[in-house]
Formats: sequence, C-alpha cells, structure tokens
Amino acid sequence: MALPTRYVLFLTVLLLLKNTCEAQIVKHKTHLQISNYMETELTIHCKSKDNDIGVKTLPPQGSYAFSFRPNFWNSTLFFCKFTWKDGSHWFDIYVQTRDQHSCVKNCNWFVVKNGSGVCRLIEGEAHLVDMCYPWNDASHAESSHH
Ligand SMILES: *[C@@H]1O[C@H](CO)[C@@H](O)[C@H](O)[C@H]1NC(C)=O
Ligand SMILES: *[C@@H]1O[C@H](CO)[C@@H](O)[C@H](O)[C@H]1NC(C)=O
Repeated sequence: MALPTRYVLFLTVLLLLKNTCEAQIVKHKTHLQISNYMETELTIHCKSKDNDIGVKTLPPQGSYAFSFRPNFWNSTLFFCKFTWKDGSHWFDIYVQTRDQHSCVKNCNWFVVKNGSGVCRLIEGEAHLVDMCYPWNDASHAESSHH
C-alpha cells in the first residue's frame, strides 16, 4: 500500500529534524541564573551582541535569569554589567567555549558576598562551587564588546 505523499514528506522532515538535533546543530536550551549574595541592592544588565536581556535591580538574595540556545559555532557570548553602591563591574557571564561543558542546562552563578566577583555552582548542586572569577579587567570590559 502506497503512503500518501504528504505523509512521506512529513516523515522525511521529522527524520531530518531528529538528525539535526543529534548532530547538535540545534542545541539544547541553557537556563542561566545570577543570584545576589551581597547584602546590598544590585543592578544587573546582561546582553549579547544582538540581544539585550534588560536591566533588573535585585534585593539581597534576588536573582536575574534568562535562557538561550548556545550556537553551533561555539561562539555564544553574554556579558553583564553589575552596578551597586560601590560602582560598576563587567563580567562575561557565558562564554560558550568556557562554560558549555560545565553547565549544560543550568548555569547558576552568584555574586560573592564581598562583591569581589562571581562564582559558578556545579550543575545540579545547590551549594557546591565550581569556579570563581574576579570581574573583567575594567580597561577591556566595555571596549571589548562595543
Ligand atoms: C564546538 O565544541 C564542541 C565541544 O567542545 C566540539 O565537539 C565541536 O566540534 C565544536 N564545534 C565547532 C563548530 O567548532
Ligand atoms: C571575597 O570573597 C571571596 C570568596 O568568597 C574571596 O576569595 C576573596 O578573597 C574575598 N576578597 C576580599 C577582598 O575580601
């Protein structure tokens, strides 16, 4: 019995999509969250080259979150500006080549209590720290992305 052409076409498209996903051309979604562990209000503004995530002011313990799909070329980059009463700092919060193996579905970061930088948690662990980084060097931070 011959299958209707439309049905065959539909199956072909499904199969193509499935292979595309397996080849990681279409990547899984990554959810990124930054929590404020300082004892003061913190304003965060994250962006990529083409995407402005927006500005949010967080109370102590508050968080800023967004989702994205890492790209095929491993070049996804999101950078954020952190402003509080002591001034402003920049940090590259998602650098695909640095982060894609450490946090696949959930990238959880926090701003350390003393405001010296940020730490990333081990994926799937609520309290275990993977890596801590100081803020981007002030001279390269703004100029490198704009
Ligand atoms: C992206 O990174 C993955 C894992 O490190 C690697 O297997 C893949 O070849 C890279 N893709 C490109 C386009 O460079
Ligand atoms: C701030 O805290 C981090 C970790 O919580 C620590 O590594 C760093 O030395 C501290 N910096 C200052 C200036 O106290």
